Amino acid sequence: MTDKLIIFDTTLRDGEQSPGASMTRDEKLRIARQLERLRVDVIEAGFAASSNGDFEAVRAIAQAVRESTVCSLARANDRDISRAAEALRPAARARIHTFIATSELHMEKKLRMTREQVLEQARLAVRFARNLCADIEFSPEDGYRSDPDFLCRVVETVIDEGATTINIPDTVGYAIPELYGNFIRMLRERVPNSDKAVWSVHCHNDLGMAVANSLAGVKIGGARQVECTINGLGERAGNCSLEEVVMAVKTRRDHFGLEVGIDARQIVPASRMVSQTTGFVVQPNKAIVGANAFAHASGIHQDGVLKARDTYEIMRAEDVGWSANKIVLGKLSGRNAFKQRLQELGIEMESEAEVNAAFARFKDLADRKSEIFDEDIIALVGDESVTA
Ligand code: KIV
Ligand code: ZN
Repeated sequence: MTDKLIIFDTTLRDGEQSPGASMTRDEKLRIARQLERLRVDVIEAGFAASSNGDFEAVRAIAQAVRESTVCSLARANDRDISRAAEALRPAARARIHTFIATSELHMEKKLRMTREQVLEQARLAVRFARNLCADIEFSPEDGYRSDPDFLCRVVETVIDEGATTINIPDTVGYAIPELYGNFIRMLRERVPNSDKAVWSVHCHNDLGMAVANSLAGVKIGGARQVECTINGLGERAGNCSLEEVVMAVKTRRDHFGLEVGIDARQIVPASRMVSQTTGFVVQPNKAIVGANAFAHASGIHQDGVLKARDTYEIMRAEDVGWSANKIVLGKLSGRNAFKQRLQELGIEMESEAEVNAAFARFKDLADRKSEIFDEDIIALVGDESVTA
């Protein structure tokens, strides 16, 4: 098994399925270029057969992107697969991602098909796609809620037909990390030709566990591709968040022992671009990309970080694309943080007594104002009249 973890970004396909997040061709192209700068391995650019607009977007991305593989989703039928192949024709590296549901619930109620019909359609779809493209991903939709025996048969069949990646979606975000990890491992152990394909995880966030489930799929299950989106964008509660899964694997390399090709300094620019384009605001306490992710407000923490950053930081803000970490001055701040900010602002105090007096005025002000900005400090030290 390789020690490289493939990062498959589906912001432009599954992410776009988020209500209100639909993007124009040009917006998608701009984001795809940023994803290439981020060095994602695979960009799922859209669902070419779903509309002319999406076909054009996939084609434009296939033309523009040279480093990452460009992928289009396609249902398991000849028309969808042909549209995907046509849109991907200009790509330097192309992938067709075809899917069909395999859970009893989806087959019976949604597709109104028998197991044998689904198995046959999956077989024919992968065979057809393989004649058009060398890189084929197959997803059994609602795979995690599918009967394992049937799922093993489907997966074995599509690998025999030439599928190169097998992606097991937790379509409705129902999984629990340990169970999902064991499920992937069980499939890999039971499918006789499993080592002929790369195994992939695709987790939705309905119970807030998409990242944890994906990591379990990698660590316990042995998956070597993670499907994810910038800011965790996606239908309902979203998908596995790229920034979280990538930084978990990088920061805890001691645990995962895997390489990811991502240029993490492009994470924050990518997050901002996706947020601005879709209008989906990133919550301040969101890991990695939230405004407070590297902000320190408590005096004890500020003091610690000023002495040695790793006291309260497990990653460097600069390494994920922030300009720096942030000491937020407020009522919990200590004298040390206040003095440091004076120095950064070029303010020199004559004596420690003067620092103490300014610090006392700062504390009084902080009791009345939740965040103290640089302008407040400048006013406070220059204006003796600022008192409690
Ligand atoms: O969640 C899902 O099942 C999907 C598939 C189409 C891969 O997005
Ligand atoms: Zn999905």
